Amino acid sequence: MKALERADIESVLFGGHDSIVTQVRGYQNYDISDYKITAINNPSKKRPWTDTKIKSEFWKKIFDDLQPKSYADFGCNLGYYVFASTFSGVPSLGVDYNSEYIHICRAIKFRHNIQHANFIETTLASWQLSSCKYDLLTVFNVIHHLYNRTEQYLEMEPLITDFANKANKAILFEVPTEKDKKGHKWAMDTGYSEQLFVKTIERIFSKYVKIEGQTKERPYYLCTL
Ligand SMILES: C[S@@+](CC[C@H](N)C(=O)[O-])C[C@H]1O[C@@H](n2cnc3c(N)ncnc32)[C@H](O)[C@@H]1O
Repeated sequence: MKALERADIESVLFGGHDSIVTQVRGYQNYDISDYKITAINNPSKKRPWTDTKIKSEFWKKIFDDLQPKSYADFGCNLGYYVFASTFSGVPSLGVDYNSEYIHICRAIKFRHNIQHANFIETTLASWQLSSCKYDLLTVFNVIHHLYNRTEQYLEMEPLITDFANKANKAILFEVPTEKDKKGHKWAMDTGYSEQLFVKTIERIFSKYVKIEGQTKERPYYLCTL
């Protein structure tokens, strides 16, 4: 499917023949070499709800607690979490429907020879056709797009069920609620709400915990199967 918007990329600076670090700036911000990835604080006032450094520290605690043997990030964007997981020794998959992000992630993978990070261009509905599952799946800031924009789920139950089908142990959601500006913009008039999300995860998962997010309109939910 053709992406509905251009990728949110400010710059990807490879730095020429002798450079050992690639600088990635945009919706996600980080520096990466063959051996190391460093998250960077949001360099501008744009996107106040998402700071890669702050979120990466939160993500790392959950990741280290759960000790997954496999990891996937849905809506992987510029690939920070996929590369970070791979550098921690866990083979990882990034999924995004926007081919620009997937091509950039693959270019970074090949530039730095990061063999166990892989990237596929697909949507959630199409990803269901493969049977692969991952110990830990992250779904950050994306479910509001799947309701009636980049996909047409229009109901919470099949949407969350399709995510649950791809995980063995746990899913960490970052949920733009209906009170979030973008959550409202992309899902208004559909019945999408945090309350409906919670009712649905109560039915599908054996346990869940709500965790404060970077803004109060975008909490995390860690759901265990
Ligand atoms: C708001 S950004 C969040 C990026 C990243 N998850 C984060 O929080 O840092 C939403 C991402 O989801 C991707 N996306 C939107 N709809 C999608 C779909 N139906 N399938 C896969 N990816 C999608 C976009 O291309 C974009 O990278």
